[in-house]
Amino acid sequence: MKILSIIGARPQFIKCAPLSRAIRKEHEEILVHTGQHYDAEMSDVFFNDLSIPEPEYNLSIGSGLHGEQTGKMLIEIEKVILKEKPDMVLVYGDTNSTLAGALAASKLHIKVAHVEAGLRSFDRRMPEEINRVMTDHISNLLFCPTETAVINLKNEGVTDGVCNVGDVMKDALEYNRPIAEKKSTILENLGLSPKEFMVATVHRPSNTDSVENLSSIVKAFIDVDETIVFPVHPRTEKYLKEYGLWDELCQHVKVISPVGYLDMLKLMNNSKKILTDSGGVQKEAYMLGVPCVTMRENTEWVETVEDGWNILVGADYGKIVDAIEGFEGIGKVRNVFGKGASSDKILHEIHSVC
Ligand code: UD1
Ligand code: UDP
Repeated sequence: MKILSIIGARPQFIKCAPLSRAIRKEHEEILVHTGQHYDAEMSDVFFNDLSIPEPEYNLSIGSGLHGEQTGKMLIEIEKVILKEKPDMVLVYGDTNSTLAGALAASKLHIKVAHVEAGLRSFDRRMPEEINRVMTDHISNLLFCPTETAVINLKNEGVTDGVCNVGDVMKDALEYNRPIAEKKSTILENLGLSPKEFMVATVHRPSNTDSVENLSSIVKAFIDVDETIVFPVHPRTEKYLKEYGLWDELCQHVKVISPVGYLDMLKLMNNSKKILTDSGGVQKEAYMLGVPCVTMRENTEWVETVEDGWNILVGADYGKIVDAIEGFEGIGKVRNVFGKGASSDKILHEIHSVC
């Protein structure tokens, strides 16, 4: 089979690494990088860390408004599909690259497989929620990471081609955790001792694009008596500088450039708490058994909250400070994201329908 895989943003590189490895054992894979993320620390580092093959196509779309970025991707992906004539197009997660890939393929009557299908925050102000809903409704194979995702799809009348295969991010985490512990020198480089610091990430538009919300998060990080390491997403750096928050933040918090996956795993695995608005990082915190403070009002990963490992605090200064100081993970870590080997299950499902 010829499978065309579409990736473009940081979390998609991580999700595709284990599945691409499995696909290439038995099938021809054409890897398309849309170029949504393009800085070395947002893209190249993941290809090196995770030994992802060089993409056959790099569309170099870059940043832009939603319509502009998605539209440019659609135009270029369509050309690649027409040229390569794949049997299936594989898309990951919930970014503009996901939606563009699914839309281009479905209009050309090529089967679409969606990895990480069925997730819902029920918040239509999130661009990702629009991408998720649209992609799921035009996909032929819907690979859900959790049982909740299967139920969400059922509630929208989507049942054909739906399968709970567990989460490919668990495959990536399990494979790379021992490698990260051995190879990454980030703790030494930053002068950190295990379990004596917290790691933070922030990049959601609801936090970065609001001066009130970003100020409140920054103030909380500055005011607590904790060592916080903060690899800053380029979107967030732009707004921190625009709002005049950058210099004070850098005086009180260990602000660093975005890090590769191995360094990030090492930081998370050794941190005493994780502070984030990322989807992937919430799951990784759960899988690593590290308490997570999520600076959002809602989450797609409800199991992490239900099981007592994650707390939603929005951008509320008081709630963030209280959670940094007082929230502890109390529950048991269950196999809500499957037992691993999700990539093999996906391949098995692909074989059974094609
Ligand atoms: C995108 C995804 C989001 C995902 C995130 C992962 C959409 C709508 N959003 O958000 O779901 O959680 O990726 O990190 O698809 N920039 C750079 N260099 C880069 C990439 C981006 O400087 O390599 C800056 C640009 O100023 C750009 C901004 O970051 O405008 C936002 O990038 P974009 O890819 O549009 O959205 P993300 O916030 O990264
Ligand atoms: N990540 C990373 N380096 C960083 C920040 C995040 O490797 O500096 C990893 C993180 O461990 C997770 C993924 O990137 O696997 C999450 O991506 P992101 O938060 O950008 O997107 P989301 O998951 O919210 O869509």
